[in-house]
Amino acid sequence: MAYPSNGPGEDSRPPASLETRIVHAAAGAGARLPAETVGPAIQKASTVLLPNTAALFDSSRPTYGRQGLASQMALAGALCELENARFCQLYGSGLAAITGALMSVLKSGDTILVTDGVYQPVRRFCDGLLRRFGVRTLYYPADAAPEAIIALAPDETRLILIESPASLTFEMTDTPTLARLARTRGILTLMDNTWAAGFAFRPLDHGVDLSVQALTKYVCGHSDVFLGSVCVKDPALEHLLKQTMIDAGFAVSGEDAYQGLRGLRTLPTRFDRHGASALEVARWFQQQPETARVLYPALPEDAGHALWRRDYDRACGLFGVELRPMAEADVARFLDGLRLFGLGFSWGGFESLATLSRPTRTARPWTGGPLVRFSIGLESPGDLIADLDQALTQIRS
Ligand SMILES: Cc1ncc(COP(=O)(O)O)c(C=O)c1O
Repeated sequence: MAYPSNGPGEDSRPPASLETRIVHAAAGAGARLPAETVGPAIQKASTVLLPNTAALFDSSRPTYGRQGLASQMALAGALCELENARFCQLYGSGLAAITGALMSVLKSGDTILVTDGVYQPVRRFCDGLLRRFGVRTLYYPADAAPEAIIALAPDETRLILIESPASLTFEMTDTPTLARLARTRGILTLMDNTWAAGFAFRPLDHGVDLSVQALTKYVCGHSDVFLGSVCVKDPALEHLLKQTMIDAGFAVSGEDAYQGLRGLRTLPTRFDRHGASALEVARWFQQQPETARVLYPALPEDAGHALWRRDYDRACGLFGVELRPMAEADVARFLDGLRLFGLGFSWGGFESLATLSRPTRTARPWTGGPLVRFSIGLESPGDLIADLDQALTQIRS
């Protein structure tokens, strides 16, 4: 096979010393993109070479690697397709996407309304850093009606943060109605839509201003990458997100963006399999005497099912189980007895995980029984049920 010679060639050899030649050799134009590939190039670069002096100050093109290059741009573009967005800003984690979006639109003196069912580290950010910078956070019950939420909003309210279904307790919010009511008051809405992965529900099509996901979960899908995204339709929000990213100096690695793109391509196939298996396991849990309630909006018995059926066309593999009152030691024995489930806090990966949930709730404290959460992976659901069955049998004896 005749690959082109990769030596410098007699004629192109610069009249310079060896040190100079080896420094400049690897940066040769031919070494940059030797062939077309299915995926984008992973460009590892802080420095971006510009063709002339005028281009140094051309803000319409990347001038520094921190802004993201080929793979970051490819992932952001693909996420715009997924979310029907005009612009997608990537972040180094899902939490960074939420905090980055908040920092982009808030200022001292603002109030924000946040669901009581928010992912706990977001609460920590609101009650700590945002408070220190003069932003007040009020929490609304995770299952509150849109009218009741809007009624809580003082004049200086700038944003309502929605997470539906809620973290750990899975209450659904009537997001389209809340987004519409917020808009009439000039209040922005931001939704953490990680559960639906931008696939089962597209917030921007339902009037939400900022659609956020922890790509770490279903989009990346393999429990080995941190990434987050914020998608918007409004050019003014696009400007604020970009500017804050530049001002704060956040960056996303090209390798991670490449992995995100790789995961995104199989998201629909994986997501539906996660959802179908989770439904099977959730139904099995409903029949166990230890179960008080399964918290999964895809189940007709779930309190949020009507909203889910109206707005969503599928469900992911994450649900909760409220157990009948029992000692936490027995819950721990059940979880420790599982062989196919890992114990861990994340979700959305190919492998099944379980965790004990301790929801922080300040608007309305959690008064239910012990709570466990399952992320159903891509294993056979029959095997997972057999494993859950043997672990439950152990605590019955
Ligand atoms: C609902 C939700 N949003 C955001 C995040 C944060 O994502 P990351 O771990 O990528 O920061 C998580 C993480 O568990 C989550 O569960």
